[in-house]
Amino acid sequence: MDGESVMEPVPLLRGKRILLGVTGGIAVYKVCTLASHLTQMGAEVDVVMTEAATRFVSPLTFEALTGRPVYVDMWRTGGAGLPTHIAHVGLAHAADLLVVAPATANTMAKLAGGLADNLLSTLALAATCPVLLAPAMDAGMWSHPATQANVATLRARGVHFAGPVRGRMASGLEGEGRMMEPEEILGHIRRVLGRNGPLAGRNVVVTAGPTREFLDPVRFISNPSSGKQGFALAQAALDRGAEVTLITGPVSLTAPVGARRVDVITVQQMLDAVLEATADADALLMAAAVGDYRPATVSQHKIKKTADLTLRLERTPDILAAVARRRAEGGFPRVVVGFAAESQDLLDNARAKLEAKGLDLIVANDITAADAGFAAETNRVVLLDREGGVEELPLMSKAAVAEAVLDRVTRLLIGTE
Ligand code: C5P
Repeated sequence: MDGESVMEPVPLLRGKRILLGVTGGIAVYKVCTLASHLTQMGAEVDVVMTEAATRFVSPLTFEALTGRPVYVDMWRTGGAGLPTHIAHVGLAHAADLLVVAPATANTMAKLAGGLADNLLSTLALAATCPVLLAPAMDAGMWSHPATQANVATLRARGVHFAGPVRGRMASGLEGEGRMMEPEEILGHIRRVLGRNGPLAGRNVVVTAGPTREFLDPVRFISNPSSGKQGFALAQAALDRGAEVTLITGPVSLTAPVGARRVDVITVQQMLDAVLEATADADALLMAAAVGDYRPATVSQHKIKKTADLTLRLERTPDILAAVARRRAEGGFPRVVVGFAAESQDLLDNARAKLEAKGLDLIVANDITAADAGFAAETNRVVLLDREGGVEELPLMSKAAVAEAVLDRVTRLLIGTE
């Protein structure tokens, strides 16, 4: 599956009504991608365009992407003899979230001032749901005191902002005022929609990716972990409203919006970061592929290429064991989930690890399968719990595995109260 262009359904977005206000700026073309992604992820997207927005992209484009009517004209009759703006006040009331992207300086001024002179500003005034704005304008317009005063007014009223960011502007100049990329706006949408979820107010720590152990300044021992499963777990926890600390080894992934990212390289660094972050955490999800061995000595200089090289390796500290010791003394976290990557006797080995490491849940996967485990897009896992429960999940995306694990974590956390 091409993870870049095909979006899979996201439980948080399933059936959510998103009123997408589109105003007139060149960034409209990127909002087509946003509308498409939201729709593919399961949201019902109702697009309301300003007249100016239709100069850049036709309403037909959004109709095709969302499979739903697009609203522009305030005075066209909305059935039953009502003008459109009255008929569609129902849209504003039904919405779970109003997103305006791109949000021009003009539309932000209208929203700050409470004007209702077109369909979008009218619906914004009628809406009682959260509001998220993704501004896009020339840098001078963004920094203008009038715009900044409007931003302050809107923020004080609880309006959320995604961007703008620094970058190349339509004028060809560089500055702050560029609309945030659709993928990042999506992250902000998920954050706003998820903030009152079942894990709201909970601290969840997730580890991801490989570790590296250097033998000299340029050589290290590592493994092929991509970090994808851990990053998916962080996103699933964020979708449920958790505060997430994502402790990651070297990976080429962008952290989900809202996660506090801590970059580490060695096992010792990961151990230190985990102990610090879990001091007041509710749950630890230990998805990192932590190296088991490191060179017993590290050369200060690059080791010369001579004859054979014999390395003496020593064991790295076991992070889960350290966490278990702290829990035995009554410390946090309350729920600990481990991962077992096995190439033989999957269930027996996973069960033994669950016991030895004092885990509440272990996610076991057979790394000999080509479509599961390290660096794959998909995973096939078995969940084993402390009560002896065994749940075999079919082959699914890493995001779907993350959802299944977070469902369990949520039940464990809420069940412990
Ligand atoms: O014993 P094994 O490495 O197979 O256990 C896997 C689980 O233990 C994973 O959750 C991994 O993140 C964690 N682990 C750890 N510290 C280590 C090695 C693995 O916490 N040194």
